[in-house]
Amino acid sequence: MRTFQLFLLFFLFMGTRLSEAGITDQECIQCHASITIARTVHENFSCVDCHSGIQELPHNETALVECKNCHEEAQEKYGKGRHGIAAAKDDFDAALCSDCHGAHDIRAANDEKSTVNPKNQIKTCAVCHANPKVAKRHTFTTKVPVEAYKNSVHFKALNEDGKKAPSCADCHGSHEVRHAGDQASSINWKNVSETCGKCHAEIMKVYQGSIHGKAAAAGGRQAPVCTDCHGEHEIRAPGDPKSSVYPAQIAKTTCVWCHESLRVTQKFSLPGERLSTYLSSYHGLVNQAGSGVVANCASCHGIHDIRPSSDSESTIHPSNLPRTCGKCHPGVGGNVALGAIHIDPSRKEGNKVVYYVRLFYIFLIFFAVALMLLHNGMDLARKFRSERLPDGKDYLRFTMQERLQHAAMSLSFMVLAYSGFALAYPQAWWPAPFSFTGGTEEERRLVHRIAALAIVCALSILYYIIAFQYVAGVFKMRRSL
Ligand code: HEC
Ligand code: HEC
Ligand code: HEC
Ligand code: HEC
Ligand code: HEC
Ligand code: HEC
Ligand code: HEC
Ligand code: HEC
Ligand code: HEC
Ligand code: HEC
Ligand code: HEC
Repeated sequence: MRTFQLFLLFFLFMGTRLSEAGITDQECIQCHASITIARTVHENFSCVDCHSGIQELPHNETALVECKNCHEEAQEKYGKGRHGIAAAKDDFDAALCSDCHGAHDIRAANDEKSTVNPKNQIKTCAVCHANPKVAKRHTFTTKVPVEAYKNSVHFKALNEDGKKAPSCADCHGSHEVRHAGDQASSINWKNVSETCGKCHAEIMKVYQGSIHGKAAAAGGRQAPVCTDCHGEHEIRAPGDPKSSVYPAQIAKTTCVWCHESLRVTQKFSLPGERLSTYLSSYHGLVNQAGSGVVANCASCHGIHDIRPSSDSESTIHPSNLPRTCGKCHPGVGGNVALGAIHIDPSRKEGNKVVYYVRLFYIFLIFFAVALMLLHNGMDLARKFRSERLPDGKDYLRFTMQERLQHAAMSLSFMVLAYSGFALAYPQAWWPAPFSFTGGTEEERRLVHRIAALAIVCALSILYYIIAFQYVAGVFKMRRSL
């Protein structure tokens, strides 16, 4: 027994001597003077621990360095990931251990100088993932992740604010990096909420209770996961105008690519025309003009806690509507729940009252404009026919006061029409004076109301004058008789 142990010890001793082949680092450095592994994680090892292919000096062949001899766990995971699989297939672009970790300057990940430190990963991965040639040779779902990530709130929080925000490997893993289509991948849509939820745990919990979370968990790819609304690499803060969830963007992008899609609405038998009905509402019109304070889809439906109106916890359940609308319209009562919100006023089925009010209004506008045209046309015809006075001068049809009054009326009519159409056509170029600064809707409303007041005043003065002149005329006639 004892002899065996001694034998083993001797063999081990011989073994190490043999593997080092009696070669000291000093000998290697004689020829490779620039290389040192001092102050790295491997400082206690010698050159030949890694370059074990070199058995004698001078050497000619050097075998590939096998990190796996000492890092079995990392190697095992690496072997399951896309980088390892690609390396095994001799893919020229594949990331080897040394592509990410370096060779002679390998440091622990928490070392600020490590190539895999969260702050430095972006540079390390960018060597290949910001290289269009590598992207061209492979089937990445995202061609330019690095540039996009640099614009994200995460990049900023990590690098500028020193917060524990994710770098590449927090979402992708370090060794078992899998393709997005792979169900075992941390970035597969089924696992995304768990991946984000590592840090945003509260939001994940709320989301999982929502109709979207439940539908996604049941396997419905049509239901949104975190990245469908926020994006993956270029995730921005909601207050950032370029964010996909910026208030003015929500109706335009966040919700409607699903809720206007027949593929989704038919499959889940959801009511359609959410966007068009929203856009034609007052909230929608003003939202298009750029206002961030009116209601968008999320102000009424919630964000991560969206539920159907039949769910008593839903923000749009009739019993909760006074509170939901009351956030912005303090004091509204239970009556807000009486009418539907998503209605197309041009159809009777939506809401009869709204339908007829709209119909009456359209009739009124056409009637008024038609009368105006008739009146102006008759007046114009009359003007052409009117004869000169005997002394050749023009016949004075309107007094100064009448002219001023007409000018006031036509000006207020034009302003009224303009500021009204500016609400109805927020996307057109000509309402621009009302839609280039933040306080625009306020200005438009003020101008519209002043114009309305002005036209009412002008009209009443007109009628007053007509009435006065009529009476005066009758009086004059009586006297001359
Ligand atoms: C007598 C000088 C000399 C000594 C001692 C020496 N080398 Fe080299 N080594 C060379 C030369 C020359 C090359 C070829 C350089 C080239 O190809 O650019 C080389 C190349 C290498 C390479 C690169 C091979 C490749 O394919 O790119 C490695 C790795 C290497 N040596 C490791 C070692 C290690 C480890 C030791 C100590 C055990 C060592 N060398 C000792 C001279 C030496
Ligand atoms: C932790 C393992 C490790 C240790 C320890 C190590 N090397 Fe290396 N070395 C590598 C790797 C990995 C490469 C890159 C091999 C490749 O690209 O295939 C490399 C490459 C080299 C090369 C060729 C490329 C270059 O950078 O010039 C030389 C020469 C070399 N090593 C010499 C040494 C010497 C001398 C020592 C001891 C002072 C040493 N190595 C210690 C891992 C190691
Ligand atoms: C695509 C880049 C990449 C490749 C390729 C890679 N690593 Fe890593 N490795 C990382 C990152 C990033 C970390 C830091 C992980 C962290 O902080 O959680 C890491 C961490 C490590 C650690 C520290 C302990 C651990 O497991 O977290 C070891 C050891 C390691 N890698 C060894 C290897 C070996 C061996 C290989 C080759 C088989 C390899 N790595 C290939 C990126 C890579
Ligand atoms: C001869 C065995 C051996 C070889 C070969 C070897 N390592 Fe190591 N490595 C170790 C040991 C032991 C440690 C732990 C050192 C410590 O914790 O101070 C270590 C530490 C590390 C760490 C830091 C782990 C951490 O805690 O963050 C990384 C990264 C790493 N090695 C990567 C590599 C890579 C990449 C290669 C191949 C180029 C390699 N190693 C080759 C033995 C080895
Ligand atoms: C040396 C080049 C290189 C480096 C460095 C590199 N990768 Fe890769 N990566 C590749 C290649 C090549 C593939 C594609 C493998 C394939 O097609 O099977 C890939 C695949 C991926 C995939 C899966 C995509 C797919 O379509 O399979 C992800 C995710 C990924 N890498 C993330 C990273 C991250 C994160 C880092 C940094 C920690 C990194 N890579 C570093 C070359 C690299
Ligand atoms: C907040 C999490 C997150 C961060 C941080 C992140 N990614 Fe991604 N990444 C994802 C998600 C999710 C996808 C899947 C996209 C999809 O489904 O199409 C993805 C996709 C990718 C792909 C394509 C994967 C494939 O299967 O083709 C690559 C390559 C990639 N990311 C590299 C990076 C690099 C490099 C970094 C760091 C600069 C990074 N990512 C940072 C979440 C992240
Ligand atoms: C490693 C932890 C971590 C992971 C994983 C992570 N985040 Fe973050 N996230 C943060 C931190 C830290 C911030 C910065 C918070 C701050 O500045 O207040 C942040 C900020 C955000 C913000 C902006 C919040 C704000 O109020 O400005 C959004 C949106 C966001 N993350 C979404 C996601 C999504 C979606 C995912 C998954 C694809 C994800 N995050 C994954 C840690 C993480
Ligand atoms: C249906 C679309 C949608 C989905 C799915 C979604 N979000 Fe959001 N998220 C939003 C919107 C819209 C906002 C902006 C709310 C605001 O204006 O304050 C937001 C805000 C955020 C914020 C910052 C504000 C806050 O409340 O702290 C974080 C962080 C965030 N989401 C993370 C996530 C995570 C993690 C998931 C997945 C578990 C997720 N989101 C799923 C639409 C979504
Ligand atoms: C990726 C597609 C997608 C996005 C983005 C999306 N939804 Fe949905 N939504 C669905 C699907 C699918 C359902 C049906 C789920 C079910 O019934 O199981 C649904 C259900 C709903 C319901 C409940 C409808 C009902 O009667 O059951 C409401 C309300 C809703 N979504 C509002 C929103 C709002 C608001 C947003 C934007 C913040 C949004 N959705 C973003 C796909 C999406
Ligand atoms: C002013 C508040 C408000 C706004 C803004 C709003 N909704 Fe609604 N939404 C409701 C109410 C209340 C209901 C339920 C009654 C109804 O249909 O009018 C509803 C119903 C729905 C439904 C059917 C859910 C159900 O269970 O009945 C979906 C889906 C929906 N809205 C999506 C959207 C989308 C997408 C947007 C943005 C384009 C949006 N909503 C904007 C208040 C709003
Ligand atoms: C995010 C805040 C917000 C929410 C939530 C909201 N609104 Fe509004 N709403 C506004 C703003 C801002 C205006 C325009 C200013 C005003 O008239 O007070 C407006 C205007 C209106 C108008 C036109 C009134 C007018 O003065 O011309 C009606 C009607 C209306 N909202 C109904 C509702 C109903 C019903 C709900 C709930 C289903 C609701 N709103 C939820 C912000 C909101």
